[in-house]
Amino acid sequence: MPDQTDAKYATEPYLRHIMLDFRQMAEFVKEPFLVARADGIRFWDIHGKEYLDGLAGIFAVNVGYGNPRVLEAVRKQLETLPFNPPMHGTNPRAVELATLLAEIAPGDLSTARLVDSGSEANEATFKLVRQYHRQTGNPGKYKILSRYLSYHGATGNAMSAGGVGYRKTLYEPTSVGFFHTYPPYCYRCPYEKTYPDCQVFCARTIRTTIEWEDPRSIAALIVEPISNTGGIITPPPEYLKILRQLCDEYNILLVFDEVITGFGRTGSLFAANTFEVVPDILCCGKGMSSGYAPLAAALVREPIAQAFWGPPGTEFAHGHTFAGNPVSCAAGLASIREIVERRLPENARRVGAYLVQKLEALRPLGIIGDIRGKGLMIGVELVEDPATKKPFAPEVKLGLRIGKQALANGLLIRYDPHWIAFGPPLIVSEADIDQMMAILEQSIREVLRTL
Ligand SMILES: Cc1ncc(COP(=O)(O)O)c(C=O)c1O
Repeated sequence: MPDQTDAKYATEPYLRHIMLDFRQMAEFVKEPFLVARADGIRFWDIHGKEYLDGLAGIFAVNVGYGNPRVLEAVRKQLETLPFNPPMHGTNPRAVELATLLAEIAPGDLSTARLVDSGSEANEATFKLVRQYHRQTGNPGKYKILSRYLSYHGATGNAMSAGGVGYRKTLYEPTSVGFFHTYPPYCYRCPYEKTYPDCQVFCARTIRTTIEWEDPRSIAALIVEPISNTGGIITPPPEYLKILRQLCDEYNILLVFDEVITGFGRTGSLFAANTFEVVPDILCCGKGMSSGYAPLAAALVREPIAQAFWGPPGTEFAHGHTFAGNPVSCAAGLASIREIVERRLPENARRVGAYLVQKLEALRPLGIIGDIRGKGLMIGVELVEDPATKKPFAPEVKLGLRIGKQALANGLLIRYDPHWIAFGPPLIVSEADIDQMMAILEQSIREVLRTL
């Protein structure tokens, strides 16, 4: 039963006291959405209405809600040691987690800088790469290259690396030393080329960007292996391998922002495994603790970590009060072990393939342009005419309307004016997908009737 006393928090006098993420509160109060509890792949709002979670919260709850192993680990840790200030040392769970990460991470990613959010993981990385180059004889390397349409977080430098203009304009000027290149958006190639004839020009041309910018000034290249913003932009198989070669050639550190793709989402433990490319730094968060507590990390390759192991003054000068928090680390350990031991990445691959099949079956509706992604990170670009790829007029905002209708019908998905996406908990079954797809199809039909 919903807690009736909570209903008052969905009213304006209370909601006046809170600012939510990227949201106009004057609009939110008209249709407040407050979630009260969750279990498995479902959650319930404060009025008791049930929803299927086709988005794992926001690509986070990889093991699903109410996982007994994670709950027990968190409860036990809360009773034993709820907090430990990282200024004075650390705790066994933090070291255990860092050791586990070194075991499961690809290649020689050996050392974890634990933080509390994906933004912080990227933020720490931008400092770390600059310091690394200073300590290894290349003090001029400070610039960070990233891509348009990317999202790396809401904080200063992470926002500057982000590639969506309107998210930054209000807060400009952004940080100095951040510049952008085009993403591998094959469906609407910014270079007006076609794969595979293009021979992955979008990756190869980064050589010119590096040369013209001056490689002696570039510290790192950061990319999401598959990026959410822009509509689950998925690179061709060679793309990340070419970036790896370029970075090696020019002594630029390659950073994968795996905040979404990490911990099984793309069908392997990391997208680095899926695309068979080891970055120099791998940033992760979200699914790391399955959202049971704030937890994120920047995982660093052994030779880079080595540059920080030495005399005083060469340490990484960075800290957060809650970094390596024992409760977060306990949640992370339990969640990661669930993901590994229950082989959830394999489930993501199998059920993800089934989801794609079901989405393909919606093509007769006449609005499916492109279906892309890997594992359980699948996006659909919506178009007015699939034959010509003609997009809907900006005011139609079909994806937004479908997403809102699906929510009204009891299904949470990711939605944007021109695309929708699924990213459910990695425990979903084919039968769960059937239920989600039934709601999605009904919602699309309802919205199409209003056009
Ligand atoms: C790819 C990517 N990087 C970084 C972030 C920022 O993570 P957080 O919201 O935990 O700060 C996000 C959040 O959605 C993300 O999707």
